[in-house]
Amino acid sequence: MAEILPSILSADFARLSEQVGILAAADCKMLHVDVMDGHFVPNITIGPPVVASLRKATKLKLDVHLMISDPDRYAPAFVQAGADLVSVHQETCPHLDRTLNMIRAEGAKAGVVINPGTPIATLDEVLGVADYILVMSVNPGFGGQKFIPYSLDKVRRLSAALRDRGLAVPIEIDGGITAGNVAEAVRAGVEWVVAGSSIFNTPDPAAAFMELRQRAGAALAVRV
Ligand code: DX5
Ligand code: ZN
Repeated sequence: MAEILPSILSADFARLSEQVGILAAADCKMLHVDVMDGHFVPNITIGPPVVASLRKATKLKLDVHLMISDPDRYAPAFVQAGADLVSVHQETCPHLDRTLNMIRAEGAKAGVVINPGTPIATLDEVLGVADYILVMSVNPGFGGQKFIPYSLDKVRRLSAALRDRGLAVPIEIDGGITAGNVAEAVRAGVEWVVAGSSIFNTPDPAAAFMELRQRAGAALAVRV
């Protein structure tokens, strides 16, 4: 079953609770929270206090995507603030095995993320350590960018590598997902689909969310 994870990066932050409530009413299960430090990526977004406020406002699972240079230093604060899942970029983690285990020890699921230019081979050794793997389909830093098509081939190869090793690790995709390409992503092997602007930059975010979910579900039906 494919899940759609709305990325609040494109939400109206002054009406966050209301917008999250609308998605919860549409039976959304997980929210994607983009944390940027202006260092690893050329943009700055939110920190643990916003995650703590969201935690009070919703029961949805919070998937926190750390686009920051020093995730070891800050990941625990996000778990303590209420993150259910925390992902870190391979490019920021010289001690990736240690970082993933630290996040799990703090009490969250630990994900690893790779940028479009980072080969999936860099994850070979940790495929059995990570709880999920996020393949970026844009260069991280901004919402509303264009999907990078070769990401799909990375997903296919990663999916095959996981299958070969008998690992049931969900693959997440993030960036440039629309109603026009969500089916292709799911057919390539994605289980968790992040979508920001194609949900929140529409007149009816709940309807946009439901359309993505419907298309993802239909793609899966074709796959089986
Ligand atoms: C990009 C972020 C994404 C972003 C996706 O750096 O990690 O989660 O919000 O936005 P869209 O879906 O608009 O590409
Ligand atoms: Zn993200």
